Amino acid sequence: MYLLGYDLGSSSLKATLLRADTGQVVASAQSPATEMGMQAPQPGWAEQDPALWWQHLVAATQQLAAAHPQAAAQVKAIGIAYQMHGLVVVNRQGQVLRPAIIWCDSRAVPLGEAAFAQLGPERCLRHLLNSPGNFTAAKLRWVQQNQPELFAQIDKMMLPGDYLGYRLTGELGTTASGLSEGILWDFPAEAPAQLLLDHWQLPAHLLPPLLPTFGPQGQLLASVATELGLPAGTPVTYRAGDQPNNAYSLQVWQPGEVAATAGTSGVVYGINNAFRYDPASRVNTFLHVTHQAAQPATGTLLCVNGTGSQNSWLRANLFAQAGAALPYPQINQLAGQVPPGSEGLVVLPFGNGAERPLGNRDLGGSLHGLQFNSHTRAHVARAAQEGIAAALRYGVDIMRGLGIEARTVRAGDANMFLSPIFAQTFANFTGSVVELYNTDGSQGAARAAGVGAGIFASHAEAFAGLARTRTIEPEVAQTERYQAIYARWLACLERELAS
Ligand code: XUL
Repeated sequence: MYLLGYDLGSSSLKATLLRADTGQVVASAQSPATEMGMQAPQPGWAEQDPALWWQHLVAATQQLAAAHPQAAAQVKAIGIAYQMHGLVVVNRQGQVLRPAIIWCDSRAVPLGEAAFAQLGPERCLRHLLNSPGNFTAAKLRWVQQNQPELFAQIDKMMLPGDYLGYRLTGELGTTASGLSEGILWDFPAEAPAQLLLDHWQLPAHLLPPLLPTFGPQGQLLASVATELGLPAGTPVTYRAGDQPNNAYSLQVWQPGEVAATAGTSGVVYGINNAFRYDPASRVNTFLHVTHQAAQPATGTLLCVNGTGSQNSWLRANLFAQAGAALPYPQINQLAGQVPPGSEGLVVLPFGNGAERPLGNRDLGGSLHGLQFNSHTRAHVARAAQEGIAAALRYGVDIMRGLGIEARTVRAGDANMFLSPIFAQTFANFTGSVVELYNTDGSQGAARAAGVGAGIFASHAEAFAGLARTRTIEPEVAQTERYQAIYARWLACLERELAS
């Protein structure tokens, strides 16, 4: 018996085939092998074509099925994780009406902020736990206001993972956790957020029907099954945003447990059993995948948009040699030639849209204190990683104010955590112990699909074979030095925010 998990990121789609009885990964495939682009028709905008996501899902699945046809023929359940908050709109025929407006697109910020003020912050926070900010509902409102003819053709709005589910099964649906990412969930009412829909005159029938996060969400269409090399009728049994899914994949289920990722964006995500929120919405609270009315579980999420996105920009623009970008491990080696603190060079990594921890300000990325006679690109390489770790520390301080201690933070041994400098600097800045595991979101989604299909009797049973690869302790002897480095970074940020 095998399970298949997908993780649709901003830069690629990853698929993992997992053996259910042993929990062992058979194989993973990623498409594209390089990095998927984002379109910015105007500054601050970010769009992707949902057809491209589907194309990469097909390519990654075909790779797996071609290399492991017997395992692919015995896939019993499919799980989907996806980049959160994006807006996909389709007409009655299920055709996509415009490119998806994705999570880091900042165009809807003023609309979300106006609704927060008009609805009243206290009422908004009590019901939605967040300002509508820059999330999916505000993006839909932008379409209504700016593309009214197109808006009139919308039959359903979806999140990116709902779209993949729809293409796989033909079933339109979303989840409560998904609606919470869009600020379309009323937490105390346990229902879609009628107050925001009414405020913006968004018809409730634009929301797809609710599906369980774990459980039947539709069955693989015969035509799609043939194209993918999988059995027709295979049930899709799990769907979640990539950050709650990452937490789930790391067995972050209980109040007090904390997960992190450092992919395109950098996220710290902590579980609460009460409806806690940040009144300033600098960190956001969503429904966690394990939430049940009788046992509430919310995830408080800190997101720094400019994490891997900054790294990838630097690689393409500063670390290319003879037209070819240096591999990340070589950039990490360069960074290692420079002492902690990068000899005074400071990088603010805020070049990927409105940053929630900064009150949705879009500061742009910047370099401070550059000395032409002493600094080299190796300094930039180190300062860039320190800048990201500092931005995450800035947000962790906000989370600590909400009672999420983050003494231990679990992450997949992947993306920027592969950089020893980044991982150690994050541990030193935050004082958190970082535990790294041999997993990723696509693997977690495969395990979760097994739970949704009833193949595993419990969440714990699904996690056989998950192993810790490394533990990074904060360097206590270096505390003062790193606090001084962070203080210099923070002073720089405060100057930029004041300007
Ligand atoms: C989380 C967020 C990003 C995306 C990236 O709130 O916006 O981390 O989920 O895929």
